[in-house]
Amino acid sequence: MDDVADALPIENLIRRDRVHGSLYTDPAIFERELGNIWYRTWVYVGHESEVPDANDFVMKSIGPEPIIMTRDGRGAIQLLHNRCPHRGNTVCVADRGNAASFTCPFHSWTFNNDGSLRGFPFPGGYQGVDRSRLGLGRVPRVASYRGFVFGSLTADGPDLHTHLGAARQAIDALCRTSPDGEVQITTGFLKHKVRANWKLVVENETDGYHPAFVHASIFRVAQSGIGSLYSDDSSAVARYLEDGHSENDLRPEFRKRDEPLGWFGTSPARLPDYVARMEAAYGADEARRIMIDGTPHIMIYPNLFIAEIQIFVLQPLAVDLTVQHVSALQFKGAPDLNRRMLQQTMGSVGPAGFLLADDAEMYERTHMGLRARDPAWLYIGRGLGRERRDENGFRVGAATDETPTRGIWEHYRSLMRTAQP
Ligand code: FES
Ligand SMILES: [Fe+2]
Repeated sequence: MDDVADALPIENLIRRDRVHGSLYTDPAIFERELGNIWYRTWVYVGHESEVPDANDFVMKSIGPEPIIMTRDGRGAIQLLHNRCPHRGNTVCVADRGNAASFTCPFHSWTFNNDGSLRGFPFPGGYQGVDRSRLGLGRVPRVASYRGFVFGSLTADGPDLHTHLGAARQAIDALCRTSPDGEVQITTGFLKHKVRANWKLVVENETDGYHPAFVHASIFRVAQSGIGSLYSDDSSAVARYLEDGHSENDLRPEFRKRDEPLGWFGTSPARLPDYVARMEAAYGADEARRIMIDGTPHIMIYPNLFIAEIQIFVLQPLAVDLTVQHVSALQFKGAPDLNRRMLQQTMGSVGPAGFLLADDAEMYERTHMGLRARDPAWLYIGRGLGRERRDENGFRVGAATDETPTRGIWEHYRSLMRTAQP
């Protein structure tokens, strides 16, 4: 298998209905992904609500690299590299806090939280030195959409608006689930490490084929209606939204069921405060429609998975090591819904949660399986024969089809084909 990989340019390892196994296991390919994807395109970093006040900071990442997300004294979000320009030490070791400046522990250089150098001890040794060139590295492009902050380590390229494309509508729909129109990420993150390649995780997020089998036990125990969303009888669809983004659009099925809050496994009678606030904000009809449709299930390439009630932020550390940072979604102005969102998140992806543990086991076993050499290619052709274009021109498959996976690989191919920046 490795011989084939060595002999072929990466783009030849991706065909319409199959991909070569070495794409998940070859360390050289992983290194190239860092340059061509993680350090080039827009990557989700954090949410503005994680740094609500001036001088708040939280430790984040872009790919394997730690990034400090700060709100500076003027209220602007800054993304800074955690690397001292003196001799390279990390300047911040805390996960979060409030600080107007960071002091490097090695020789005590101090930096403002916009990255600029504030000062150094024994300054006589730096006579004539231009301090403005000795600040922390700043992520060249920072932009946010509805509070979701993204960074790009390359100075040029499409803007965030363009990059998000149709994913913007999913984020809009998510925000509309809040009576105040705002999502908040305020409950902290769980970190789950898996010994598997990051692309297995990306693909799985909108793979509608596996839930019926991998998650059968939790669906049974919880008497959940989710299982039937991913079956041959489901009217839900799998959609490729271009630019690497993909979704399982469950709305057709929820609309058929016509039950407000059915997507959340509950009913208006159990969340009266939330329902009243939604009706006050949007009017009874629109509120009902929003509560029937539910929240999106969308993978925003390469690392933000909005999974109805929580977000997953994917971080690749090595070719066979990935961290999933998971947090419950919270909606501004919806305290009763938020409590339940947190409870359900703990039940599904918490330390003793069922859902994520089941998926994680599959990631690790798949990665192990991929170390075997034969057959060298994986088949991703499910649903090719029944794929269609929707009214917006996006490719759509049945709920269990591999339409998203094929789109994700097509996008990957285009990113990996271009030269390293
Ligand atoms: S390495 Fe940071 S002050 Fe020397
Ligand atoms: Fe899953």
